[in-house]
Amino acid sequence: MTKLIDGKIISKQIKDELKEEVRALKEQGKEICLAVIQVGGDAASSVYVNNKKKACAYIGIESLSYELEENTSEEELVGLIEELNRSEKVNGILVQLPLPKHIDEDRIIRTISPDKDVDGFHPVSVGRLWLGEPGFLSCTPAGIVQLLKRSGIEIEGKECVILGRSNIVGKPMAALMLRENATVTIAHSRTKNLKDVTRRADILIAAVGQQKMVTAEYVKEGAVVIDVGIHRDTQNKLCGDVDFQGVSEKVSAITPVPGGVGPMTIAMLMNNCVETARN
Ligand code: GUN
Repeated sequence: MTKLIDGKIISKQIKDELKEEVRALKEQGKEICLAVIQVGGDAASSVYVNNKKKACAYIGIESLSYELEENTSEEELVGLIEELNRSEKVNGILVQLPLPKHIDEDRIIRTISPDKDVDGFHPVSVGRLWLGEPGFLSCTPAGIVQLLKRSGIEIEGKECVILGRSNIVGKPMAALMLRENATVTIAHSRTKNLKDVTRRADILIAAVGQQKMVTAEYVKEGAVVIDVGIHRDTQNKLCGDVDFQGVSEKVSAITPVPGGVGPMTIAMLMNNCVETARN
């Protein structure tokens, strides 16, 4: 029987644990505040930002909302972030990506203080991750590790193949799986004999951004498959990078889309916010 890894249930568990922790922190006089910045009105970004604010409210974290005009200048945005960096009240700063084309995303990410970088995107956070030092973990990869652990799937010693090498998912995912003592391969669009590589995987993590690309031919019998993709198919239904129907018959465990990795990203963002108040 194929196990369905339920991100809705696991993310709810994590949020409930955090809610309890935040209650205890409040008793010690520690309040947590997240600043959420969105530039422009991209519909998908608005949904994500709203979900993040709702999660804050659920857990007991205050969220400050900055909804800036599409034509906000890079200097104005830098100015706001610098002000939030200095603020004693604000513990975490989140700038929703993507930003409008006239704003340099890398510069914005570097402007956020590494001490408030709850997305884990700042080069200092990335460096700490690779060095195995404490720091903010990139939320989606950290969520995937939690999905695996809380589903009783052992990582240590396993062959893990990550499909995709983005800065937000593929690369930090590799660092985290290495930290969990997996044997890690990153495969990508230039990888030769791709199916041979992905079929080696005990744990296959698909983060390529191509809908239903990973078919049954890409996976080993009994593998664990984690699907990071989110797309709309020709019938306007949500789907992932994995052809769920074909692949789920062959594997031991798989995440659905929606309801797999997606909800975990926000839960781990909340964990990073709480981390700002832990010692
Ligand atoms: N856009 C898509 N995913 C993310 C994320 O995890 N954080 C931010 N800030 N923007 C995103």
